[in-house]
Amino acid sequence: MLVDRYGRVDPDELDAAITDRTILVSIMLANNEVGTIQPIAEIAEKVRGHRGVLFHVDAVQAAPHIELDVRSLGADLLSIAAHKLEGPKGVGALFVRHGTHILAQQHGGDTVLENLAWSCLHCNKPAGLRRVGRAPSRQSSLWATMPTNRIN
Ligand SMILES: Cc1ncc(COP(=O)(O)O)c(C=O)c1O
Repeated sequence: MLVDRYGRVDPDELDAAITDRTILVSIMLANNEVGTIQPIAEIAEKVRGHRGVLFHVDAVQAAPHIELDVRSLGADLLSIAAHKLEGPKGVGALFVRHGTHILAQQHGGDTVLENLAWSCLHCNKPAGLRRVGRAPSRQSSLWATMPTNRIN
């Protein structure tokens, strides 16, 4: 899609660009190079008008700087990355709105607990993102299923 001279996506143009082949709209909330903040809530409203189209907000660059409220943004999915929030590289968190149907591409793996632990620790940091789970304790049966995991 084209953007205006400030790098802004026009919600009406986006609305018109959605076809019956569209399954996902993904927009960067804040651009770290030119400083544009997209009209996410307005875009979300347009996307909601199209049944079966999911709305993903890439909040990676925004998270360290502006408040994130997934409700007022209207996001079905919202991603943040740890390394932009003084966390480790290779770790992130995806907010999935309750009732949003997506399938995991990967299950398990060595980093699951680290990812989960990071999410637990940091999901409170950007306001509006809620803690979604707890890391399993060493005694739990979930811990036993992940022998390669460790607590940093
Ligand atoms: C908009 C946006 N999304 C996501 C990312 C995260 O990408 P990566 O995890 O590959 O650094 C970046 C990184 O700079 C970014 O600018």
